[in-house]
Amino acid sequence: MLRRRGKNVVELTAPFGQHVPNEQILDALAQNPNAVMVCVVYAETSTGVVHPLQELGEATRASGTDALLYADCVTAIGGMPIELDAWGVDYAYACSQKCIAAPPGLSPVSISSRAIERIGRDGM
Ligand SMILES: Cc1ncc(COP(=O)(O)O)c(C=O)c1O
Repeated sequence: MLRRRGKNVVELTAPFGQHVPNEQILDALAQNPNAVMVCVVYAETSTGVVHPLQELGEATRASGTDALLYADCVTAIGGMPIELDAWGVDYAYACSQKCIAAPPGLSPVSISSRAIERIGRDGM
């Protein structure tokens, strides 16, 4: 979706069944100091891989980067702890039909106050 909007996407990959190590994400941030957002999937549905999101949030904030943190919480919501503000997650979205086992059609979304301040500024 971001590429369709003309954004420069730096894609990091890991072997099937593993998450991209946070150190690799921090290295990529250091190499791309103008990055505006880091996007991860918290819990990946087909493999069950869990990204260490709390550690990533803490590490990205500690790194001093200005990049926002975006987390797909589709499979995680209702099944795992999610502490968006405490972990420093700026954007998160989920759904109703997976762990919560409710009818599909609802998509809870969370946007931090620092992300709201930047809407429009970075073209996001
Ligand atoms: C982790 C994850 N993110 C996003 C999606 C996309 O959800 P949707 O099909 O509701 O757009 C899925 C769908 O299975 C998913 O498992």
